[in-house]
Amino acid sequence: MTLTDRTLISFTLNNQDVSVRPDHPHLLAALREELDITSAKDGCSPSGQCGCCTVLVGGKAVMSCLISLEKAEGKEIITLEGFDPAERDRLASAFAACGALQCGFCTPGILVRTKALLDQKGSALTGRGAAGRLGAHLCRCTGYTKIFDAIDMLASGQIPSLELPSGIGKSGVKYEGKELALGDRGYVDDMRLEGMLHAALHLTDHARADVLRIDTSAAKAMAGVLDVFTAADVPGELKIGILYQDWPVFIPEGGRTSYVGDVLAIVVAEDRMTARAAAELVHVDYNVLPPFTDPAIAVASDEDAVWGLDGNVLSTSAYARGDFESAYEASPHKIHEHFTTPRVEHAFLEPESTLVIPDDDGHLMVYSGGQGVWDDRNQIAAVLGVDTSEITVELVSNGGAFGGKEDMSNQAQTALAAKLVDRAVKCTLSREESLLIHPKRHPIQIELWVSCEADGTLTALKARMLGDSGPYASVGMKVLERAAGHASGPYVLPNIDVEAVAARTNNPVCGAFRGFGANQAQFAMEGAMDRLAEMVGISGWEMRSRNVIEPGDVWGPGQIMDDGCRGARESLDALKPHYDAARAAGKAIGLGLGLKNSGLGNGFKEIARAVVQFREDGKVEVRHCWTEMGQGVHTVALQVAAEELGIDPSLIEVIVDTTRELGAGQTTGSRGTLMASGSVQAACQSAIAGGRQVGVDYEGEYRVDWTNSMNDGLENPIIHSAFGYAAQLVIADRQTGKIERVIAAHDVGRAINPILCEGQVEGSVHMGLGYALSEEFPADDDGRPTNMTLRSLGIIRPKDVPDIEVILIEVPQPRAPYGVKGVGEIGLVPTAGAVAAAFHEVDGQWRTHLPMGIHQPLQVD
Ligand code: FES
Ligand code: FES
Repeated sequence: MTLTDRTLISFTLNNQDVSVRPDHPHLLAALREELDITSAKDGCSPSGQCGCCTVLVGGKAVMSCLISLEKAEGKEIITLEGFDPAERDRLASAFAACGALQCGFCTPGILVRTKALLDQKGSALTGRGAAGRLGAHLCRCTGYTKIFDAIDMLASGQIPSLELPSGIGKSGVKYEGKELALGDRGYVDDMRLEGMLHAALHLTDHARADVLRIDTSAAKAMAGVLDVFTAADVPGELKIGILYQDWPVFIPEGGRTSYVGDVLAIVVAEDRMTARAAAELVHVDYNVLPPFTDPAIAVASDEDAVWGLDGNVLSTSAYARGDFESAYEASPHKIHEHFTTPRVEHAFLEPESTLVIPDDDGHLMVYSGGQGVWDDRNQIAAVLGVDTSEITVELVSNGGAFGGKEDMSNQAQTALAAKLVDRAVKCTLSREESLLIHPKRHPIQIELWVSCEADGTLTALKARMLGDSGPYASVGMKVLERAAGHASGPYVLPNIDVEAVAARTNNPVCGAFRGFGANQAQFAMEGAMDRLAEMVGISGWEMRSRNVIEPGDVWGPGQIMDDGCRGARESLDALKPHYDAARAAGKAIGLGLGLKNSGLGNGFKEIARAVVQFREDGKVEVRHCWTEMGQGVHTVALQVAAEELGIDPSLIEVIVDTTRELGAGQTTGSRGTLMASGSVQAACQSAIAGGRQVGVDYEGEYRVDWTNSMNDGLENPIIHSAFGYAAQLVIADRQTGKIERVIAAHDVGRAINPILCEGQVEGSVHMGLGYALSEEFPADDDGRPTNMTLRSLGIIRPKDVPDIEVILIEVPQPRAPYGVKGVGEIGLVPTAGAVAAAFHEVDGQWRTHLPMGIHQPLQVD
C-alpha cells in the first residue's frame, strides 16, 4: 500500500494527536494547509534552502519542507505555537530587543533553531558560535549581526528590555517586533478564509515565441479545478506597468512571449496542490524564435525584441558639463576601463502572494504585499475594465521586497480569477515562479574614462553605460537615469559627459532594487579613484579627501550641493583613524565612498499625507500609506507621533490606511522614512493646533515639489532633494584575502531609531558583500535563468559574514523633517568598490567585474 492509498497520517503536533490527508507533498504543506499552522513559513519549499519552515521533530530542528509525511508519521512535532509561553516570550523578546528582525519572515524558523541550540549548549552558546549552525537559514534583511547579538543575550540569560522608543533619536524595539518574531503577524499567505480557492499560473516555456494555441481543456478537466482563464477572459487592458503600460498580464493566442516569466493562464482550484498540478496541464503550441540576450546586439538590431513594442532602446539618459575631451587630454593621469556588473535577484524571503475577496456587489478586496498599493489598485482596475472605486487594495506588510515588489506579479491575474468565479481566491507563487517573474537588479556594462591632475584633483569623467532591462519597462529607464546621475560618485568633476542606455532584451525583466543604479555606477567610479590614487602616489583615503563634494560644489548633472553633503566628508573622516590603524597593522584595506539620493526627485511632485486621530479609548491612531517591508516605517511613524504629541508610545497604533488616498506612490528610493516622518509630523502639528479632539481626523501633508528633471534644460537643476552618504572600510588579511571586518560610517541625517538604523546598514553591507563577491542571476542563451534556487544565488551565509561595525553620522539634511536623509539603499553603494580595493592590496589585481568571486574564501574564526 502506498502512502497516498492510506486514509490518514497521524503524528502529534504541539502535544495533540492529529491526522492529516496523505497527499501533502511534505510536512510543511500539511502544517500550513491543513492544520492552520502559520509560524512555519514557506520561503522555498520543497527545496529546503531558506530555513523559514523549521520546526522541532523529536526535539531536533528540521526543515519541515524536507520531511515527507511518511517520515513525520508517529513523530512528535512542535512548532512555535506549541512552545512554552514563557519560552516563546523570551525568544521573541530577545530578538526584538536586539533589533534582530526586520521583515520577520525568516525569524520564526531561526527562533526554533535557537531553541534547539540553547537546549543543547545552554550558556555555552554564543552568537558567533551558532553561525555555523545557522547555515540552513537565510536572512536577507539583517546581515545576521544582530541575530548573533540576540543569541548571545539568550545564552547569557539577560532579561531583554522591551521598551518602545519614546521619541526621535531613541533606540527601542520595533513596532510589533514580538508578533513579527513569532510569526503571529500574518503575511498574505497566512490569511485563511472559509471556502477560499487557490490559483496557480502557467508560465511560458520559451523566452521568445509566438503563441499559436493555448489548450486549457486538460487542466479544466482535472478533478478539483473550477476554471482556467487566459488573455481571452480579460475585459479591460491587457498591458500594465508602473510608468509605461507595456507588460502583458497574459500573452494571448496570436501574441508573442518576451521573457520566461510571461504568464499564459491562471488555474483556479479547490486547493493549491491541485491548482499547481493543473497549471502544468495547460498545453501551448509555440513557434519558437531566437531571443535577444545580448543588450549590445539588441540595441543594434532593427528587429524588435519585445512583442508589440518598437525598437530595443528603452531609454537614453545623458548630460554633459564643461569640455571632457580637452580636460582629459590635458590631464597627466588618466584611466580608461570597462566594468561589468551582474543581474542580481532580490531573494526576499516571502514569495509573492495575493488574496482577492469579492463582495456581494462585485467590489474586490485585494490583499497585496506590494510596495505601491495605489498603483496596484489602478492597474487591477484597468485590467478588469472597472472603475478604481470597485477595487480596494489592502496592504499587508511583506516579508521583504528591496524594490522587487514594486511591479505587480500575480495581483491582476488573481483579481480576474476571483471576479470571474465570484469567490475568494489566493495565489501564492512558488520560489521558482517568484524568481522567474519579478524584476531584478540591472546588469550594466560601464566604459569609463577618468582623469586627474598631478596632485589627484579630478579633472574629467566620461561614462558610457549599457543596462540590460529585459523586455518590459518596469522602472528600468529610471534605474539607468539614476546610474547616469550618480556616475561621478560624491566627487567634484568640472568636466563630465555621461550617457546611459537601457536596452530591451528577452532576458529577465530588470527594475528597482536597493541602490537603483547608484551601486553599479559607483563600483566603477570607486575603481577609477583607486587606480588614479596609485598613479598619483597617494592613499585611497587621500584621493577621496581631495575630491569629495563640499557645500556649494556642483555635482553630477549640475546640482549645487547643499549643506547636507557635509555628510560625505564626515563619513570619510570618521574612518580615518580606522584606516590608519588597519594600515599600521599590516592589513589589506579598501575604502569606498558613496552617495545615494532619497526620494524620487527628477521633477516628480512627491506628496505624502498622514492622519492622526485621538480615540475614545485613549489610543492615538497614526495612519500612513507606506509599505512596511522590514525597514521599520511603522516604528518611524510611532516615534514621530510620540515626539510631537509627547505621549506614551504604547498608546499609539500605527495603521497603513488604504481606505483613503494618502498619496505617496511606491515605497521606494529610501523615501519611506523621509516622507512618512514629514507627513506624520505635520498631522501631529495639525492635531495640536486643533486641540486634539477625540474622533477628529487630523491630516498632515509633506511634499517635495522643488526638484527638477535632468531634461529641464537647467544649468543647475536640483535633481534630488536629499542624499545619504556612506564610507566603508573593508579590512582583509593580506596573505589570505579573508575579509575580517567592515567598518561602515553612514550619514543618515538624523537617526530616528539608532538600533534599527544600524540594522539597516548591517543588512545592506551583507547584501553589498554578496554583490561584490558571489551573487548573480545569470541567464543562458535562451534567456532562461540558470540559478533557480536560493542556494545558487550566492548569498553570503551566516558563518561567512565578517564583523560589521556601524558608525552613524548625523549631518542634517536642509528642508527635511528632523534632517532625515534615508538609509535604505546607501548601505551597499560603497561596498563592492571597497572590496575590490582591498583585494587589489592582496594580489595586485584590479577588479573590473562583479561578482569578484570568493577565490579567497571568506571565513570567520
Ligand atoms: S520553506 Fe523549507 S527551507 Fe525554505
Ligand atoms: S528579517 Fe530575516 S529575512 Fe527579513
